[in-house]
Amino acid sequence: MDPYYSDDHVTLYHGRCEDVLPTLAPSSVHAVVTSPPYAEQRAGLYDGIPEATYDEFTLAWMNGARTTLTPTASVLINIREHVADGVMSDYVHRTRMLLRASNWYELDELLWVKTSAPPLGDPRRMRRSWERILWFSTTNRPAVYATNNGRESASIGMHASSGPSSSWVNGTTAVLEQGIARSADYCSFSTRCVENGIDHPAVYPRQVARWMMANVTVEGDIVVDPFAGSGTTLVAARESGRKAIGIEMSERYCEIAAKRLSQGVLDFGGTL
Ligand SMILES: C[S@@+](CC[C@H](N)C(=O)[O-])C[C@H]1O[C@@H](n2cnc3c(N)ncnc32)[C@H](O)[C@@H]1O
Repeated sequence: MDPYYSDDHVTLYHGRCEDVLPTLAPSSVHAVVTSPPYAEQRAGLYDGIPEATYDEFTLAWMNGARTTLTPTASVLINIREHVADGVMSDYVHRTRMLLRASNWYELDELLWVKTSAPPLGDPRRMRRSWERILWFSTTNRPAVYATNNGRESASIGMHASSGPSSSWVNGTTAVLEQGIARSADYCSFSTRCVENGIDHPAVYPRQVARWMMANVTVEGDIVVDPFAGSGTTLVAARESGRKAIGIEMSERYCEIAAKRLSQGVLDFGGTL
């Protein structure tokens, strides 16, 4: 299949991911990083997936990606179910259970905490200010680079010592070790971290995509976004030295992604 856009780091295909994913090179992809369409939330903008079949839809595209993954690859999915008539929809729960029952390991649940979530939703409820990042793999021992998003810390661990800076810990003398701490299992970024003027209804901040991929890939690795939208994951991958493959079924959004990729990030309209 001819790409819609390509450069040295990024290839974008116009099509449905269920069709394109199985055609990618076997055992070549180190991570899937994506924000898929939600169930029936954006009717009229792009195809919503019916809630009743969301689990099967997700299993189909994940299984389509399976052969293209390296043996230690991760799949990171940014999603949160909506509340309907006062109750959480169950389609994300059902999807997780179906994937687990279909030979996918669910490794953990990570979070994107939105530091400036807009005041949407039911005004009698708390402001919804986080989204899930579901973490799946075909193995329970995937590649993880826990310090890639870490910060310098004065206490990443301790070793026994009776030297001058030691202190009494659990019945022995010990010295705290300095170094880069492992990342927390959540990230916090403002929803305002999106560049201005991107004509797509569900753009996520490229900082979130960068955080996701840094946990499970290193520079030079290949990241796939099967629901590329305006190309955020692809921009984030290129910015952080990864290679990326995107798939997007809407030609209009392919056009936006290609423009973003060929012109670079134009306008940073928010604060971290
Ligand atoms: C939540 S949006 C992704 C937004 C993206 N993260 C961004 O920052 O621009 C989901 C995208 O998936 C696309 N899409 C929906 N079903 C698809 C399918 N079966 N294959 C490929 N793309 C699909 C939609 O057109 C939409 O652009």
